[in-house]
Amino acid sequence: MLQQILRAPALKAILIQALAFPFMLGLVFLLARAGVGMTLLAVALLQGLLAALITWRAGLARWWCAIGLLFAPALLIVGMLDLPPWLFLLAFIFLLSLYWSTFRTQVPFYPSGPRVWREVAQLIDGRPGVRLIDIGSGLGGLVLDLARRRPDGEFCGIELAPLPWLVSRLRAKAGGSRARFIRGDYAALDFAAYDVVFAYLSPAAMAALWQQAAAQMLPGSMLVSYEFRIAARAPDKTIAATECGPLLYVWFF
Ligand SMILES: C[S@@+](CC[C@H](N)C(=O)[O-])C[C@H]1O[C@@H](n2cnc3c(N)ncnc32)[C@H](O)[C@@H]1O
Repeated sequence: MLQQILRAPALKAILIQALAFPFMLGLVFLLARAGVGMTLLAVALLQGLLAALITWRAGLARWWCAIGLLFAPALLIVGMLDLPPWLFLLAFIFLLSLYWSTFRTQVPFYPSGPRVWREVAQLIDGRPGVRLIDIGSGLGGLVLDLARRRPDGEFCGIELAPLPWLVSRLRAKAGGSRARFIRGDYAALDFAAYDVVFAYLSPAAMAALWQQAAAQMLPGSMLVSYEFRIAARAPDKTIAATECGPLLYVWFF
C-alpha cells in the first residue's frame, strides 16, 4: 500500500508544487532586481506556470497540468474571499467522505447510468439465481436497479468511500430493496463467491483487477467492465451501451 501511495499522482502533484516554489522565488527575485514588480496574483500565476511545466515534463496526465497551473492562483483567490474557517472544514469532510482513498486507488466517484444498467440486466438474463457484485458501487444505482428487476438474484455492492456507501445503504432501506451494500475494499473479497463481477473503475485499477479476477473467478462466471479495458486480455464481448459513449467490456471464465 505504501508503494501505491508513493506512486499516487496526487502526491507527485504536491511535490511538483514544492519543486516549483524555489524556481518561482528565484524568478521573482531576478525580476525585482531588474525593476519589474509583481502583484501577488502574478506571483501565484508564475508558480502555476512553473508547476504546469514540470508536471508536463514529468509525464503526468494532462488534467494534472491544469490542476498544477490553477492550484496556487485558486488558493490565493479563495484566501482573499475571507470565508469562515468552518466552511473549509465542512468542505474537507464532505470531499473526504466522498472520495476517501481516491489518491491511492486512483478511482474517483462518478456514476454509470440507466442505459448501462439495462445492458447489464440483459447480460445476466439467462442466469437464474445470479449472484452479482458491483466492485466500487458508488451510490448503488446499478445494484438497486438489478435487485428490483431480478427478484431471483443476489445483488451486492462494495464501496470504500463512506458517504456513497451510506447513501446506498439508506437508499436500499428506504426502498425496501434486498440489495446488500458492504463498506470495504474489493481487493479483500473472494470473487469466487460471485457469478458476475461488475466494475466501473479507472485505467489505473485494471491490471490488478485482472490479476484478482484471473486468480479467483470460477468457470462460467463473467467479468464486466464499463469504459475501461484490460491490457492483458482482449474482451470476449463488447457492447455499446450508449451512442458514442464508452463501451461495456465482457470477459467469460
Ligand atoms: C466510477 S465509480 C462507479 C460507481 C458505480 N459502480 C456506478 O456504476 O455508478 C467507482 C467507485 O469505486 C470506489 N472504489 C474505488 N476503489 C475501490 C476499492 N478498492 N474498493 C471498493 N470501492 C472502491 C470509489 O470510491 C467510487 O465510488
